[in-house]
Amino acid sequence: MFGLKGKSFLTLHDFSAEQINYLLNLAADLKAKKRMGIKGKSLEGKNVALIFEKPSTRTRCAFTVACVDEGAHPEYLGKDDIQLGYKESVEDTARVLGRMFDAIEFRGFSQQVVTDLAKYSGVPVYNGLTDEYHPTQILADLLTMREHLGTLKGKKFVFMGDGRNNMSNSLLIGCSKMGIDIVIVAPKLLWPDPNHVAVCESYAKESGSNILVTEDINAVEGANVIYTDVWCSMGEEDKAKERVALLSPYQVNRKLIDKVNNPNMIFMHCLPAVKGNEVTADVFEASYSVVFDEAENRMHTIKAVMVATLS
Ligand code: CP
Ligand code: NVA
Repeated sequence: MFGLKGKSFLTLHDFSAEQINYLLNLAADLKAKKRMGIKGKSLEGKNVALIFEKPSTRTRCAFTVACVDEGAHPEYLGKDDIQLGYKESVEDTARVLGRMFDAIEFRGFSQQVVTDLAKYSGVPVYNGLTDEYHPTQILADLLTMREHLGTLKGKKFVFMGDGRNNMSNSLLIGCSKMGIDIVIVAPKLLWPDPNHVAVCESYAKESGSNILVTEDINAVEGANVIYTDVWCSMGEEDKAKERVALLSPYQVNRKLIDKVNNPNMIFMHCLPAVKGNEVTADVFEASYSVVFDEAENRMHTIKAVMVATLS
């Protein structure tokens, strides 16, 4: 359907707004069915390898539960279970797994690894997070926004914090493709790569949305969504001190929410959160915080990706 069968999910660059909408509708449908206690058999007989070089709660559990709900078998392969990239090349591991599994999920450091797994395995490969992108998270975020805001087009989305991390990169693609105005509020040292912004500007032009990258926190005014992420992504723990110094003015707290001045705004975070850093506990727990809907939607949207690409 919509050219999704057999397709890998490596970055949102490779997906049209129509395909993203199709996946969101399918996820909403699968979510409603699960609520009614109806389980599907769309993935019956399939085997899915789940490779994790970095830790995970949501992504691992979302893939596992989604597989089991639809009749597939998930096989977890942690970083010490296989020898990916050090004793066995990515190319060889990909060709072995491709002979045994119907799909492969990969979470790790390098985007090149997920690209090579797709190139050599011959089966759909899903990016469960790399240093560069986190595309399955964006589907959950878009579904959550749709549930709480009704529509996506024309909404104002503000990302506060580390403007060059995997979440900021992926949100730039997702929002610009879906017609959502996106503002990245970050210190200049942590602005996204201008080449990446230029590509997303071409998507924004097509969808009729706007992109703004700024240091000015007053740009949050009128936002429909305030989004943040950890100040140190996995693998950057040694940067904690400098990030706190750089990003403290960009904390999402009550004062910032007052600046938004929109009673219908929602707060989002991909989680896990470091409360007291990027967000204060009171904002995290506020009635406008939808972070646990967002976390749940990881499972429904990942299920939709597997159903659309495998069944
Ligand atoms: N949001 C997210 O990817 O969470 P995990 O790191 O727990 O998978
Ligand atoms: N930017 C974060 C996202 C976690 C889901 C990280 O890479 O650690």
